[in-house]
Amino acid sequence: MELSWFKKGTIYQIYPRSFNDSNGDGIGDLRGIIEKLDYLQSLNVDILWLSPIFSSPNDDNGYDISDYRAIMPEFGTMEDFDDLLQKTHDKGMRLVLDLVANHCSDEHMWFEEAKKSKNNPYRDYFHWSKPSADGGPPNNWKSFFGGSAWEYDSVSGEYYLHLFTRKQPDLNWKNPKVREEMYDAMRFWLDKGVDGFRMDVIPLISKQNGYPDAPDVGFRKIIEDVYANGPRLHEYLKEMNEKVISHYDAFSLAEGVGINHENANLYIDYDRKELDMLYHFDILECVIVNGKFEESSPFDLINLKQIYKRWRDAVHEKGWLANAMGNHDFARMVSRFGDDKEYWSASAKMLLIMQATQNGTLNIYQGDEIGMTNIILESVDEVNDVQSLNFYNENLETKRYSNESALEMINKEGRDNARTPIQWNDEVNGGFSKANPWLKVNPNYKEINVAKQDNDSNSILNFYRNLLKIRKQNDVFVYGDFEELEFNNSSLYVYKKVLSDEEIIVLLNFKNVKEKVDVSEKISKTKILINNYDGLDIDGKYVHLKPYQGVILKLEK
Ligand code: GLC
Ligand code: CA
Repeated sequence: MELSWFKKGTIYQIYPRSFNDSNGDGIGDLRGIIEKLDYLQSLNVDILWLSPIFSSPNDDNGYDISDYRAIMPEFGTMEDFDDLLQKTHDKGMRLVLDLVANHCSDEHMWFEEAKKSKNNPYRDYFHWSKPSADGGPPNNWKSFFGGSAWEYDSVSGEYYLHLFTRKQPDLNWKNPKVREEMYDAMRFWLDKGVDGFRMDVIPLISKQNGYPDAPDVGFRKIIEDVYANGPRLHEYLKEMNEKVISHYDAFSLAEGVGINHENANLYIDYDRKELDMLYHFDILECVIVNGKFEESSPFDLINLKQIYKRWRDAVHEKGWLANAMGNHDFARMVSRFGDDKEYWSASAKMLLIMQATQNGTLNIYQGDEIGMTNIILESVDEVNDVQSLNFYNENLETKRYSNESALEMINKEGRDNARTPIQWNDEVNGGFSKANPWLKVNPNYKEINVAKQDNDSNSILNFYRNLLKIRKQNDVFVYGDFEELEFNNSSLYVYKKVLSDEEIIVLLNFKNVKEKVDVSEKISKTKILINNYDGLDIDGKYVHLKPYQGVILKLEK
């Protein structure tokens, strides 16, 4: 297996809008990130991934790009960016940008030109299609964010495709000019010294020929079979690798929408020379049934173990995964998978132990290192996320749920949960900004904030720092072979990792009550490397784990 810096490194995702506001306009910015580089370094993370920082009308907070080579003025200038990149590198960290290649903004020059006429040279940068026989959209495709994926253009009498909002027209990758534009933009940033890209919805870039109707199956299945994994996808990814990525010491991380454990190797098998790693949605979506705001399903530990196992088996020695339990598209990790009340601190730490000892690059989302939780938005006026708003507005028409239930669903799984400003201290607006922030600060900032945890040796923050340091010193965390113990236990996750003569045993209690397990023999020659409680209760042959206790034991040589 090829070892490289991005495998052992920990990725820390920054959502710049919410990270830190340096100039008092209520919006996080690049200077704000620079101010916090010491903090980021203190976490022992290695790679900073910035959600999009490019010019954008912000219909989808930067995932609708109007100029791939310009910095969003709210975030700062190109000088600020160069400074950030330099300083990040000076501190021994890497910087990765978010490449949104599937679509751009309808305010991008390409689209403004394209919609002028059918003969415009940019017309073919996008997907256009005639209305269906009844004058409606060309097919039944639905946007990820609700409604038809097609928008009518009255100038030409044609529809254009947008798998996301109508302000995010999909780019036509069949057109070699589009591909070259994207490769050039990538080179522009790589030449500056950027260390790679997280690739937004990259599995969607090749569309089915003739835009056939989607079958009547669940949305996830439609994504896998129709929207993603299109006929020329792997040709494009190979080309992108060959023409761009392979010329730099840079990596590509795919957002795994539409990727399952069966097709994953097509993306990340080393020999295929396409992408370096991916993060899949099976864990992020294991508590929701279909769409985010539809049915939810209770957390099931055995299911989680199965997911990890399935993926381990599938990509073992062929490719590499990134390992995420939260990001800017999902509600907060500790609220979804842990306990954000009584066992808030223990469960946040336990979840980190689990992730840090799974195979794959560890991927942390901003704020999780202090255990930030979901927020309750009191009315729809406080909602910012376009996906949540579309859901709410659609529901006003269909009246499927009451308005109160719709808001409750948004509060449970909506994306704003993860996007509230970072809580730096207990001062006004959690120290994020002197002005009113663009999105409400979670009122629990008085209790949950960086300053309070910074000097507390028992805090979640210091637990992260410590564990990430230990992870760097113990290759077995990252490269060890995984051996499942107690697979059928629905409360405890217990496993071993082995790398030549290094061995660790991980014990995790996912329940809010004490649980016991018989592993006494296995742990007899070990010492505690990490523990989210003081002490470990061993009585005869049983180990008793406290609610949400997590322990890593290391075999003594
Ligand atoms: C990805 C992003 C998400 C965005 C969507 C459209 O899923 O992570 O935030 O809305 O792509 O670009
Ligand atoms: Ca600002």
